[in-house]
Amino acid sequence: MAKILVIDDDKSISESLELYLSEEGYEIITANTGTEGLNKALQMSPDIVILDIRLPDIDGFTVLEDLKEDNEDAKVIMITAHHDMETTIRAMKEGAFDYIHKPINIDELDIAIQKAVKTIEMEKKIDGLLTEPSRSFKVGDIIGTGKAMREIFKTIGVVSQSKTTVLIQGESGTGKELIAKVIHNNTSSTEPYIAINCSAIVDTLLESELFGHEKGSFTGAISRKPGKFELARYGTVFLDEISEMSLNLQAKLLRVLQELEFERVGGKDRVKVNARIVAATNKDLKTLVEEGKFRDDLYYRLNIVTVHIPPLRERREDIPLLLDYLLRKINRDLHKKIIGVSQEMMDIFMEYHWPGNVRELENLLVRAAVVAKGQVLGHEDFPDLLGHDKGEGARLTAAVSGPEADKERGFETLDDIEEKHIRKVIARVGKNKGEICEVLGISRPTLERKLEKYGIEFE
Ligand SMILES: Nc1ncnc2c1ncn2[C@@H]1O[C@H](COP(=O)(O)OP(=O)(O)OP(=O)(O)O)[C@@H](O)[C@H]1O
Ligand SMILES: [Mg+2]
Repeated sequence: MAKILVIDDDKSISESLELYLSEEGYEIITANTGTEGLNKALQMSPDIVILDIRLPDIDGFTVLEDLKEDNEDAKVIMITAHHDMETTIRAMKEGAFDYIHKPINIDELDIAIQKAVKTIEMEKKIDGLLTEPSRSFKVGDIIGTGKAMREIFKTIGVVSQSKTTVLIQGESGTGKELIAKVIHNNTSSTEPYIAINCSAIVDTLLESELFGHEKGSFTGAISRKPGKFELARYGTVFLDEISEMSLNLQAKLLRVLQELEFERVGGKDRVKVNARIVAATNKDLKTLVEEGKFRDDLYYRLNIVTVHIPPLRERREDIPLLLDYLLRKINRDLHKKIIGVSQEMMDIFMEYHWPGNVRELENLLVRAAVVAKGQVLGHEDFPDLLGHDKGEGARLTAAVSGPEADKERGFETLDDIEEKHIRKVIARVGKNKGEICEVLGISRPTLERKLEKYGIEFE
């Protein structure tokens, strides 16, 4: 049965609601101030909160905001003496589930509670079936909601105003090329975007690819050919896998970056560079510099603006959105009607360490979508991920469990969680140790020990 928290300073209301609702079979807890309500909400994580807007200590809207911050799924039914539209709109906008007036009409309240209960049940069902609907921060088509990704969006915005060289670092499949294209599209979408993979061809060929050559400059140079820097005009040259460039060519590239001019192979004319250079690597260039495999002066030239894309396992919060986004794309491309993955697969996805990052996720989904019979992808649709054991998940389970794997994947330890919780409670109740102990349900000496353990300052 649903857990309901009633926050109202009018004791006659909270007491009669307590009586009525517990008779209806709900688990019910009451609080008479905003602070008390928030503390109790923290302890019991209610499904439904009945909240008076006018409270003696904190404004009901502030309570609403804090409640939603701790537990965004809680359904908050606001009560007020005001009838005005403005308050109603504000309450709904700020995330209230429903809104009823004083004096409370018990039928009206009943309807609101039942509606909330139904919604909660439905959400649980949908959660199991579907991935989250898309409510993402998008720049072009880059999906990401976490702090690191938001910083990347900001950087893209800033570099789009200029032609600064940008270095993109990230593991394989994290979206380096995607980001390069978005930078390009935001800067000079009508000019060419020219990509070249520095590891794909031999050195001499790469040089002529980049800078072009004059007729007869080497055997086979039967005509004059412009290089990538020329072809890109005022657009973008994307130098992928820059770490693989030879030291010899690195020296030439450095000169180009310094002088913004170069000569074609076998030529004397100076050609101007107007394009922006975006370089990408999945190696740590700094380490390569230390090992003498990459020129430090070139590194500093490239490293003016760096975008570090975190691996997918360090931003798991993006997985549901990415799933949603990638499935839409796949449905469009393959004329499918996949609506999501099963809860079981979702759990596995949230745990998996994704060595191939977003590309790996995308490839898995494409393969699953091709073979799937139903509209919800289940474990039988991911034989590669699960080993060929018809869904027992042996290989994956082995790959994702164990303390080492957990550490590598950045799981929080219980201590991390405890520390966070203590800090949260302090932020909420203030620096009153008695109250903190009460909320946490621990003794004073235990609290002191924990404060010291986590280095939480307390004067
Ligand atoms: N944040 C993201 N949102 C949406 N799609 C993404 C995102 N990151 C990557 N992708 C998709 O994943 C795939 C791989 O991305 P991309 O080719 O840009 O990776 P990469 O870092 O260049 O990989 P590699 O190092 O292997 O070359 C592409 O299809 C890309 O569209
Ligand atoms: Mg790439």
